[in-house]
Amino acid sequence: MCGIVGVVGKPAREVVLNGLKNLEYRGYDSAGIYLNDLQGNEYLTKAVGRISNLEEKLTPDEEGLVGIGHTRWATHGKPTVDNAHPHVSEDGRFYLVHNGVIENYAELKEKYLQDVDFKSTTDTEVVVQLVDKIAREKNLDAFSAFKEALKLVRGSYAFLLVDNTQPDHIFIAKNKSPMMLGIGDGFNIIASDAISVLDQTKTFIDLQDGDVADVTKDNVVIETIDGEKVERKPHTLDIDPNAASKGTYEFYMLKEIDEQPAVMRRLSQDYFDGDDVKVDPAIVDAMAQSDRIYILAAGTSYHAGLVGKNIIEEYADIPVEVGLASEFGYHFPKLSKKPFFIFLSQSGETADSRVVLKQVNERNLPSLTMTNVEGSTLSREATYTMLLEAGPEIAVASTKAYTAQIAVQAILAKAVGEKKNLEKAKNFDLKNQFALAAEGMQELVDGKEKIDELAKKYLSTTRNAFYLGRGVDYAVALEGALKLKEVSYIETEGFAAAELKHGTIALIEKGTPVITLINDPATADLTRGNIQEVESRGANVMTFVAKDFAREGDDVVLPQIDYYLSPLVTAIPAQLIAYYASKNKGLDVDKPRNLAKSVTVE
Ligand code: F6R
Repeated sequence: MCGIVGVVGKPAREVVLNGLKNLEYRGYDSAGIYLNDLQGNEYLTKAVGRISNLEEKLTPDEEGLVGIGHTRWATHGKPTVDNAHPHVSEDGRFYLVHNGVIENYAELKEKYLQDVDFKSTTDTEVVVQLVDKIAREKNLDAFSAFKEALKLVRGSYAFLLVDNTQPDHIFIAKNKSPMMLGIGDGFNIIASDAISVLDQTKTFIDLQDGDVADVTKDNVVIETIDGEKVERKPHTLDIDPNAASKGTYEFYMLKEIDEQPAVMRRLSQDYFDGDDVKVDPAIVDAMAQSDRIYILAAGTSYHAGLVGKNIIEEYADIPVEVGLASEFGYHFPKLSKKPFFIFLSQSGETADSRVVLKQVNERNLPSLTMTNVEGSTLSREATYTMLLEAGPEIAVASTKAYTAQIAVQAILAKAVGEKKNLEKAKNFDLKNQFALAAEGMQELVDGKEKIDELAKKYLSTTRNAFYLGRGVDYAVALEGALKLKEVSYIETEGFAAAELKHGTIALIEKGTPVITLINDPATADLTRGNIQEVESRGANVMTFVAKDFAREGDDVVLPQIDYYLSPLVTAIPAQLIAYYASKNKGLDVDKPRNLAKSVTVE
């Protein structure tokens, strides 16, 4: 969601703006920057829309040795200049940027700040005014006033605060929203995502919930809100900064779709020892002992969980329930006697999933997070972690993390099945299947022009579309529909193929695009029947069909792999058709409207 970058100890303007640009993919609707040159000059500039609008407003002399910047994705209050961050206290002393949501902002305003003339309608401004008021009334320095204010604040936050009476400090605080502290040589940098500042440093301190810090150019003091000193060890982030660059691609989404064969090969290398799967035995033991697996996730990750359910039930022989984290968190079902929880999350920061994990931890139950982001909150807070190893995913629409989530669930299913001595698991040649999947994905990405043609022919003017599939194809139909609607704005629904005739077929008319997926041996012929039902009502049917069931005239023939893993290849044309439908309409494929990459609010 929102992005934060702050730096102290070097010319800040470019560093902050570049950092914010690297976070653009997360989605935002306004941006702002505060600069202080430590000579008594300070500049606050904000703009609605893109960072380029902000750059246009900055005059050449606006520079600073301290800077804090922000990209805002509106939650409380419309995307306007007044509502953009940084927010400033009434007397012009304190400047604050914030990611997260202050739950009790109305209460704070009512109780402590009735005499303040607010400039914005945001929850954030309440905090900067509160810090100012406490500093004045209790005659406290900025850090102390900040900590006092935080004791009153309820909600999620990553805050950067500058006090212009001691401008060579940035005061920071973290609770539930991600924030990393980058350690430089003669400067320090703070960001909501390390990727955004990898060109500045690779040494980072992961701040934990409840941490506050006083950051100067060559010193960092971390404390709790109560003022107790905290030790946090820096570590080196081993990420190639180029992995987060677009290279020759026009959009990240296509780059990330194309990277999927490489991700499969990486997973093959890192999760296998020869032909044997290699998973932390503690995870395998814990899961093998459980009588039911609960997979929790949101959006695309939830769809990956639906595929994972099929794989785990087949190869590990444990019943699986898949839940939408946002629902599960407030309506816990009756749990089995020995539950094991799996959280699927590309970002590892999704607030809806965190709500569930918190309760799982309160009940002392075992949990595993499968995430793409090492050190992310869901990873730190779960008992175990398995990394997706997909590399930074920048486009808002998730692609390579989805297939990596399916692959890592398959690795785990095989490891657990083998531990339980199941013949099916032992005979499951997963390494070879991964090789087939990587090859098949490559063949499909190499044939992308064909998908572009389909998008041009059937999706350039349509208002709506449907995806049909049975078995694991139903799970992919849901994901294909989400992908298509979120990036192209074509209203798309995914259906279990036979369900359409129980009502929704009423929406099929001449020219309605219907994408049909066929990989399931048990139902391939029945799905052909469903195709006829919609074709006879005028639908434009596109078929993505596994080689063994393909017929003349099918649009995409999918390389044949194990049925349970077939989503790994079916996903490719589903992602590509969404990409081209969006690109051909001239939309910003990587940053669909209203969406954020990492959804850190409930
Ligand atoms: C859609 C998409 C979202 C995310 C969802 C969960 O393309 O990316 O639906 O899958 O917001 O995010 P993570 O996986 O980070 O928990």
